[in-house]
Amino acid sequence: MALKIKHLLGLKDVCKEDIITILDKADEFRKILDSDNLNVKDLAGKTIVNLFYENSTRTRISFELAEKRLSANPVNFSPSVSAISKGESLKDTVQNIEAMKINMIVVRHAASGVPKFLTEFSDSVIINAGDGFNEHPTQALLDIMTIRQKFGRLEGVNVAIIGDILHSRVARSNVWGMRTLGMNVTLCGPSTLMPQHDELLGVKTTTDIYKAIENADVVMLLRMQLERQDSGLFPSMREYRQLYGLDCEKIERMKPDAIIMHPGPINRSMEIASEIADCNRSVILDQVTNGVATRMAVLSLLNS
Ligand code: CP
Repeated sequence: MALKIKHLLGLKDVCKEDIITILDKADEFRKILDSDNLNVKDLAGKTIVNLFYENSTRTRISFELAEKRLSANPVNFSPSVSAISKGESLKDTVQNIEAMKINMIVVRHAASGVPKFLTEFSDSVIINAGDGFNEHPTQALLDIMTIRQKFGRLEGVNVAIIGDILHSRVARSNVWGMRTLGMNVTLCGPSTLMPQHDELLGVKTTTDIYKAIENADVVMLLRMQLERQDSGLFPSMREYRQLYGLDCEKIERMKPDAIIMHPGPINRSMEIASEIADCNRSVILDQVTNGVATRMAVLSLLNS
């Protein structure tokens, strides 16, 4: 089934039908990947440029793997060895790459709105791999896929997202997607790291981690995004860990069947105790595995 969207810029404006279509396709690809059948030709002859202006391990590698699994030709762009160092603009860079005849661009950038900006002059399909504080839609899709795998449903599932919400594009995409799917989201963190405006209206917020986790089916921890923060947003790392870090004492207050998620990269002993990250309730590596299937689904469906 074709999607209504032409690009994946974020989940804010993606309808429920499109999200479910992507999740169902991702489940199909996960089965194919688990069977070691890598002979999928959906993107044979297509060229995809991975334009990563910000560092990445999971997103970049899983997009490249997804493209290869779909028989596409991936090209990886590295700003540090590109003509950006000679003063070339983003628009000129993209227009020159497009002149070489490509089909899709996967873009990560520190500035919010860059993927949308590319759609204004580019003929390629644009996929957002994370833009500033704004959105990280494929991360949210793989998170939601993982939750559906674990619980067999989405509607009514209670999700607590804990940490640096203010600077988190992962939190924003998850809020938009989960609200569309009828899931219940509670955002939790120090008041200085919570959005102060009404952009996330419709979800519960609390500064008390115990209130956030006690009814949660899913507890999702977020990394402290120090690279995006002004100083002085919380007193100290030690205090943050004591109040908001998920440890053996706090996990006792969670529902017995609740799962633990994290988009990565994790900071062990900060937002999550090392033994919790590795415990059998943690699905962090399942999220990573599902990342390849989710990105295959997005690439394949946007190509059709
Ligand atoms: N979750 C995530 O976006 O990780 P990377 O920064 O490693 O891609």
